[in-house]
Amino acid sequence: MTQSADFFARSRKVTPGGVHSPVRSLRSVYAHPIFIDSAFGSQLVDVDGVSYTDYCMAFGPLIHGHSDPTVYRAASEALETGWSYGAAETASLQLAELITGTIPWVESIRFVSSGTEAVMSALRLARAATSRDKILKFSGCYHGHSDAMLIDSGSGLAATATAGSAGITPGVMQDTLVSPLDNLEALRAVFSESGNDIAAAIIEPLPANYGLLPQTDEFLQELRQLCSQHGCLLIFDEVITGFRFGFRGYAELSGVTPDLVTYGKIIGGGFPVGAFGGRRELMELIAPQGPVYQAGTMSANPLAMKAGRAALELLISLPIHEEIERLGQLLSNEMVDCANVYVQQRGSLFWLCAADTAALSEKSSLPIRSIDKLPDTTAYGKLFRHCLHDGIYLPPSAFEVGFLSAAHTEDDIMTLVGSLKRFSLNDE
Ligand SMILES: Cc1ncc(COP(=O)(O)O)c(C=O)c1O
Repeated sequence: MTQSADFFARSRKVTPGGVHSPVRSLRSVYAHPIFIDSAFGSQLVDVDGVSYTDYCMAFGPLIHGHSDPTVYRAASEALETGWSYGAAETASLQLAELITGTIPWVESIRFVSSGTEAVMSALRLARAATSRDKILKFSGCYHGHSDAMLIDSGSGLAATATAGSAGITPGVMQDTLVSPLDNLEALRAVFSESGNDIAAAIIEPLPANYGLLPQTDEFLQELRQLCSQHGCLLIFDEVITGFRFGFRGYAELSGVTPDLVTYGKIIGGGFPVGAFGGRRELMELIAPQGPVYQAGTMSANPLAMKAGRAALELLISLPIHEEIERLGQLLSNEMVDCANVYVQQRGSLFWLCAADTAALSEKSSLPIRSIDKLPDTTAYGKLFRHCLHDGIYLPPSAFEVGFLSAAHTEDDIMTLVGSLKRFSLNDE
């Protein structure tokens, strides 16, 4: 028995499913989770001493790689002066000034401790700002685990029987409208029926929680236009894409400006930070300035703020984005003629489908942009285990995307390509 198996057996006795976040269980791809002992650069080392090249990268925060020395230094220096004050401090001021000084549509920002909290607070703000109740979301987009956002969600809920969660009240469901991605007709219909009741439309501008589902510019532009026309706010959930597609994220890339934006992951350099921000007059509705209550014991934790600032400053000073996007493109180019694995890639994000690629391109128009066009994903578990055997740790679900970091090299990518090309759907 491996040490991981042993730890898992113990963990199941004290924790639901043995893990503290569902996808970590590897349930959909593997018999039991691997317990990690340490991580450096692009490498994970498990408790049995086995190393893996990591393409999950903690689901996105580690754009500089594991244990990046600059972030490490900032975090360890922060420890010297205490790590939680529950009072005003300068670390969050400096991070807020860095972000608001660089991203024009974020005039004011509030730090929280997770992407879930950021979204939950932005939705409350939108409801208060518009005096409306309804929120429009898109099928397959994941916005964290607040009640309203678990309806037709992605990530760990992708492909569950109800695509939702138990414990959600009919009232919450009634106030959450859901529209399919990449469907202008349905989008226009939902606005024509309910547009004047919608407080906010929330979307991942590059949906990346049910596979990677790029939207057309036209779709995002139409959404922007319909929101403006109906007086509802547009929220871009940039928890994954923020600071990853250039510093200003997907909003800049798409040329579509949201009213509010939510961040998480990269913003904390791998420490627990989320944030929401937008136009000053909207943000000033937040307490203590305005009537929308929002608070947190751990909000703007100085250790996390300093680590986050180090990570973001490094993104400004080094040409990381170009390099990781080049590696993403390399992966995509090298895989073009692979028979059993289809790769959909944008920038430093990629999504692997274990599928007969000839049949897939005959059947679907590529790229895949909505969850109703997904191929059969059942073979992904085999692909995950095949790569694991080759020392490669892929995202542990068919619906999670892979993340590249500044610590990955061209050699890493070519090793991944080699392993993917050796995979056969008829394995095992
Ligand atoms: C787009 C998006 N929004 C929100 C969240 C929730 O963030 P957190 O897990 O930090 O609560 C996630 C998490 O993966 C996400 O991908």
